[in-house]
Amino acid sequence: GAAPGAPDGPGALPPVRDWPATDLPGTDFDPVLSELMREGPVTRIRLPHGSGWAWLVTRHADVRAVTNDPRFSRRAVLEQDVTRLAPHFIPVPGAIGFEDPPGHTRLRRVVAPAFTAPGVERLRGRAQEMLDDLVNAVLREGPPADLTAAVLAPFPLAVVSELMGVPPADRPRMHHWTELILSSAHGAERSARARQEMCDHFTALLRRRIAGGSPAGGGQGPGSRAGNGGSAADGSVTGLLAAGVADGQLTEAEAAGLALLLQIGGEAVTNNSGNILYLLLTRPDLWERLREEPESRPSAVEELLRYIPHRNAVGLSRIALEDVTVAGARIRAGEPVYVSYLAANRDPEVFPDPGRIDPGRSPNPHVAFGHGPHYCVGALLARMESELLLDAWLDRFPGLRFAVPTGQLRWRPGALIRGPESLPVTW
Ligand code: HEM
Repeated sequence: GAAPGAPDGPGALPPVRDWPATDLPGTDFDPVLSELMREGPVTRIRLPHGSGWAWLVTRHADVRAVTNDPRFSRRAVLEQDVTRLAPHFIPVPGAIGFEDPPGHTRLRRVVAPAFTAPGVERLRGRAQEMLDDLVNAVLREGPPADLTAAVLAPFPLAVVSELMGVPPADRPRMHHWTELILSSAHGAERSARARQEMCDHFTALLRRRIAGGSPAGGGQGPGSRAGNGGSAADGSVTGLLAAGVADGQLTEAEAAGLALLLQIGGEAVTNNSGNILYLLLTRPDLWERLREEPESRPSAVEELLRYIPHRNAVGLSRIALEDVTVAGARIRAGEPVYVSYLAANRDPEVFPDPGRIDPGRSPNPHVAFGHGPHYCVGALLARMESELLLDAWLDRFPGLRFAVPTGQLRWRPGALIRGPESLPVTW
């Protein structure tokens, strides 16, 4: 609906709202997004970078329809300077976020086996071991500790590296590049250089694998356990990519670009699980309930994924390839459209009392991992890691609490993905 008195006939466009997307504390839901949701199912926004305006779709049903509709293209986004949150894009060849089917399908199919339930479950035991090592070290040191630095940063990095087949010696560099690529603080040029360096590194690793050698350092990746000399067929992501290049399913440049994106994506759990821990420590009832009812933890993880505002503002837009009507709004060919998964996760039609954390919520068809062809590749991996981390806090740190008043906690400034900079705790 338009404002009272405004023309409301067909063709009347909603006003363009500025969305400055400033830093927000804790897990606060963005008040601007709340207003946009109240204003209508489809509104128009202007973000800090790029030019012009874009449509914003917020209702659960509409978000699912748009993200599953081939009339909206990701590829076309690269041809426009769409209004956006990030100062720079990070597309490389193989950047599946900017691909449409069938090219998108072809690229994802190559790595899919590593991210299926059996692929991820194969890694659970090793992930548990790596987490135990980190937690044991924290307990040995004694309180206080920063659980972001000690566990939440190194654990997802180690797990995704293991899945990728990235040798342990390369992991600190991978982490450094990821930070530079995902942050705008060092400038677009430094980000672009980090992207190139990481790409070159993966290219070299893939070439060694195609040649049948083990990954650099030969170490403890899945390759060594497969006992096949680290050939392309060891089930690791770089193994799958090397096999795909050798078979001509994708180019070497596409494979390196895809590896880069997966490695970067792997670190998303650091921030998300940082927010989970923050919520647990600020809600004693929730902590107690999950401590006493371990069987309710998997559904609690889903509810926390729904509730947590994972990102700031909105991510990548889509461009209408033809005129499309969404919830009564006439979107014209060439116009950019954003969906908000965060808003869809608070749609009261689907989630009664959406602002409440209900660990037993059922059904819980949240879209925290997206929807449609671009659905998060790492969703099952992220779930597995989130569950292991939740168990670690609840079962291994009795009496866990913040070591500073919560008002002193610091949140990542200027971040695309929201999360605590550090979590100083004691027990
Ligand atoms: C895409 C959420 C963890 C890799 C996405 C999308 C969302 C998302 C909302 C975008 C859907 C769209 O473009 O419409 C999350 C959350 C995570 C998480 C909340 C943690 C709790 C991971 C992990 C990995 C990963 C662990 C890698 C191992 C990716 C990739 C894409 C993606 C590569 C692009 C997929 C495509 O465009 O086809 N994720 N993710 N994510 N995610 Fe995740």
